[in-house]
Amino acid sequence: MSGRLDWRSGPAGPLRGSVGVPGDKSVSHRALMFAALADGNSRIRGFLEGEDTRATAAVLQQLGARIETPADGERVVHGVGLHGLRASAQALDCGNAGTGMRLLAGLLAGQAFDSTLIGDASLSKRPMRRVTDPLAAMGARIDTHDGLPPLRVRGGQRLHGIRYELPVASAQVKSALLLAGLYAEGETEVIEPHPTRDYTERMLAAFGWPIAFEPGRAKLSGGHALRATDVDVPADFSSAAFFLVAASIVPDSELRLSAVGLNPRRTGLLEALRLMGADIRVENARSSGGEPVGDIVVRHAPLHGVELPEALVPDMIDEFPALFVAAAVAKGNTVIRGAAELRVKESDRLATMATGLRALGITVDETPDGATIHGGTFAGGTVESLTDHRIAMSFAVAGLVAQAPVRINDCRHVATSFPGFMALANGCGFALDAIA
Ligand code: S3P
Repeated sequence: MSGRLDWRSGPAGPLRGSVGVPGDKSVSHRALMFAALADGNSRIRGFLEGEDTRATAAVLQQLGARIETPADGERVVHGVGLHGLRASAQALDCGNAGTGMRLLAGLLAGQAFDSTLIGDASLSKRPMRRVTDPLAAMGARIDTHDGLPPLRVRGGQRLHGIRYELPVASAQVKSALLLAGLYAEGETEVIEPHPTRDYTERMLAAFGWPIAFEPGRAKLSGGHALRATDVDVPADFSSAAFFLVAASIVPDSELRLSAVGLNPRRTGLLEALRLMGADIRVENARSSGGEPVGDIVVRHAPLHGVELPEALVPDMIDEFPALFVAAAVAKGNTVIRGAAELRVKESDRLATMATGLRALGITVDETPDGATIHGGTFAGGTVESLTDHRIAMSFAVAGLVAQAPVRINDCRHVATSFPGFMALANGCGFALDAIA
C-alpha cells in the first residue's frame, strides 16, 4: 500500500438511517482457509472485500487453490484437499493482517514444503513467538526475525498434538494450533484463560472435522478430511462498533445496523455501552450459517463513565478505540484495566488513543494495562492514526461531536477491514472527507 491519505471529520449530525456494514474479517479469513483445504467447492457469501482478507485469498492462490470472484462479496473456492497445497516460489504476503499470518503459520507448519510469510511495516513489528513457540512444541520448525516476521516455515516436519494452556486469551493463537492439529498425530487440545471467538471451532465442525469444544477449550485430532461447505459471513460487529458509538454520542441520532454477527465472544462493547447508559436494542435475533445475527437499533443517549469489568475485555478486544471515544464524551471517568494486549495490535492502541484524545483536549491517564479517561468535550485538532485502521475510524467518530474539525493523519489502512467506510458514514450523516 502506498501514498498517504488524511481525513477531516467535522462536527455533524444527527445520524439517521440504515447502515449495512461489510462482512466479518475473522470469519472471512477462516472460510477461505478451510474451503481451500476441503475436498470440493465452497461458496462464501458476504465475504469481506478488505485488503486483509484479499491478502489471505492471494496467499492461498499462490499455494495452488483456485478462487473465483463471481460477484463482489462472493468467492467460490475450489478446495485442493488437506494435502493438496503446493509450494510457492515467492514469499507469501499477509499485508497488514495478524490473523492471516498467525493462522497461516499453523496451517503451513503441517505442509510438506517450505514457505515464507511476510507482512507490511506494521505487521512486521507484531509478536510471533506466541504462535511459533507452541507450534515448535508440536514439532514445527519456524524461524523468526527475533520473534518478529518474516516467518520461515520449514515443511516436512512430523507434527504431534499437544495440550496447551494459552498464557493470554488469543483466538489467533488457538486457531493456529488447531490448524496445525489437523496435520498432527494424536490430540491437540487448547485451553484458554478466558474464552475467545470460536469461529475456527464452529467452522471446522461445519466442514465436517470432528472437534470437541466449549467456551475456553477445544480439542481435535489429526487425520480426518474437510468437506466443502458454503459459508454465509455475517456483518462484522467490529465495523458496526463505530456506528454504535457514533449514534450513541450524537444528539437525536437513530441508526439501524442490519444482520450483524452477534457471537457473544465479540459483543462485549454492547454490554460496555449499555453499562454507560446507551440505548441499544437487538431486533430479529436469528441464526445464519450457525452464527447468531441480529439487527441493531441504536439511539442517542447520555453516557456516563464506568469501571469496565475486566471480564469484558477479551469480548471487545478490537473495540477499545471506539470505546475510548465514547468514554471521552461520557460524564465522569471510565477506567480500563486488564487490556495490555492492546499494546500489540495494529498499533499500541492504549498509547495511540491516549495521545490522540489528549491532542483533542481530553485528559487520559495511561497505565501499563489500561487507562482512565476523564470525560469532557473534544476540541478540534490533529491526531495520528499510526496507520491503524480502527484508530482512524474511531477519530472520525470523535469529529462528529468536536467543537472544530478533527484531522486524522494516515487513514489508508481503513481499507484493510472496512472499504467504503467513508461513503457509509457520510450516507448516514457524518461530515468526513479526504484531504490532500
Ligand atoms: C482475531 C483475534 C483477535 C483480534 C483480531 C482477530 C481472529 O486477535 O484482535 O482482530 O480473527 O482470531 P488475538 O487473537 O491476538 O487477540
